[in-house]
Amino acid sequence: MSQSLVSMAYLGAAILFILSLSGLSNQETARRGNYFGMAGMVIAILATIFSASVTAYAILITALLIGGLVGAKAAAKVEMTQMPELVAIMHSLVGLAAVLVGYANFMDSSSPLEGIEKSIHEVEIYIGILIGAITFSGSVIAFGKLSGRIDGKPYLMPGRHWLNLSLLVFVILLGNAFLSQAESGGGTFPLLLMTLIALAFGVHMVMAIGGADMPVVVSMLNSYSGWAAAATGFMLSNDLLIVTGALVGSSGAILSYIMCRAMNRNFISVIAGGFGTSSGGESAAIEGEVTPVSADETAQLLLAAKNIMIVPGYGMAVAQAQHTVFEITKFLRNQGKTVRFGIHPVAGRMPGHMNVLLAEAKVPYDIVFEMEEVNEDFGHVDVSIVIGANDIVNPSALTDPNSPIAGMPVLEVWKSHTTIAMKRSMASGYAGVGNPLFVMENTRILCGDANETLQAVHKALNA
Ligand code: TAP
Repeated sequence: MSQSLVSMAYLGAAILFILSLSGLSNQETARRGNYFGMAGMVIAILATIFSASVTAYAILITALLIGGLVGAKAAAKVEMTQMPELVAIMHSLVGLAAVLVGYANFMDSSSPLEGIEKSIHEVEIYIGILIGAITFSGSVIAFGKLSGRIDGKPYLMPGRHWLNLSLLVFVILLGNAFLSQAESGGGTFPLLLMTLIALAFGVHMVMAIGGADMPVVVSMLNSYSGWAAAATGFMLSNDLLIVTGALVGSSGAILSYIMCRAMNRNFISVIAGGFGTSSGGESAAIEGEVTPVSADETAQLLLAAKNIMIVPGYGMAVAQAQHTVFEITKFLRNQGKTVRFGIHPVAGRMPGHMNVLLAEAKVPYDIVFEMEEVNEDFGHVDVSIVIGANDIVNPSALTDPNSPIAGMPVLEVWKSHTTIAMKRSMASGYAGVGNPLFVMENTRILCGDANETLQAVHKALNA
């Protein structure tokens, strides 16, 4: 395939990736966005395979088959609730690829580059390996934390910010040593040392982050993996990889920023790592009695209500209760009641987790609202139903400055006339903090697996 044809194909693929991102920004167009992304990737792979620079077809096809098989198997096996772990481990592969491509480029003695071009190429190699190594080790730790293999608690080294700063200065000095030694064909030692430091930095950065802030870390690593891919693109002089990497890098950074705002975290401190810790004091103990409620009583409360708000959380995903939620919503709307959904930006375990589940169950988009759109309305809500949500409806985020989630905006369900919270026990949520909502006077606990209790409520409504 001629170079100009390859360039045209790359341009087409880049446009499809942009259309894909814009499609994914809205649940009504998300499916189309996915198709654009898939089409772009097929074009990109075919153009690369048939480009003049590729000759080792046997290796390429073997790698494609192995990679494709592993990817398809992992995607088919993964539960929706494990998606962030899968995403984290996939990011680690992008980082590892950047490191390997960097070393391959460094060792490639056939490069025709000379003078300033050679120096620029060496800078690309150094930065590519640096970003790739941080992304790789950081993502492996994020995978460990998200999958519960590593404790979610933040591990804080004394003087960690100074340590990070000195590592940065050391990496710059090593970069200088690498560039001057590479002139004369050397540079292996500073490159290896920098790689080890970058790997350690990735581990240190993510280990220092508390469980409640992991969503931001996942999207931040997503951004890092994009920059690692862009760096690989520079090393390989592949325009499409540069464009795609930059798209992933910048969209991941924007998503991190949006999440930081949603969780009231400081974006700069996120980028610097070592965030997500409480202010150090003891968080307030939760005292009080819970008031249980039965499925029949819940049905009565719903039948008496005019204005109902449903707040789904991680437990709805675990129970796979979205279809029963839809049936109940349909029933109540047919009775002339106003039923709305309030979605917290970090409900569940990944961005848009609740929206995906509700869309799958065919809940109409126009009754699904973002937190800011409904948070002022709870005073006018007769019944709020909290389905397997905990941290995102925890009032202590607003009242207890020592809480690990202090300052995170939450859905203020306790302002509604009655709140029905569905959960299986009095266990805490992801952030591991007690929730005073469950012992409030106007809160009722409907205990059990959310899908089973909702089915019982549905039956009682139809009785
Ligand atoms: P959580 O705070 O994790 O609470 C989930 C609740 O669901 C728990 O109280 C649990 O109580 C209940 N539950 C679990 N399985 C259930 C089932 N089968 N039936 C009924 N209830 C069940 O969830 P949330 O309120 O959605 O908050 C999300 C948390 O995850 C935040 O802390 C957020 O920072 C974090 N996080 C979010 C993301 C993204 S991007 N969304 C990614 C990683 C982490 P029982 O065990 O008593 O049933």
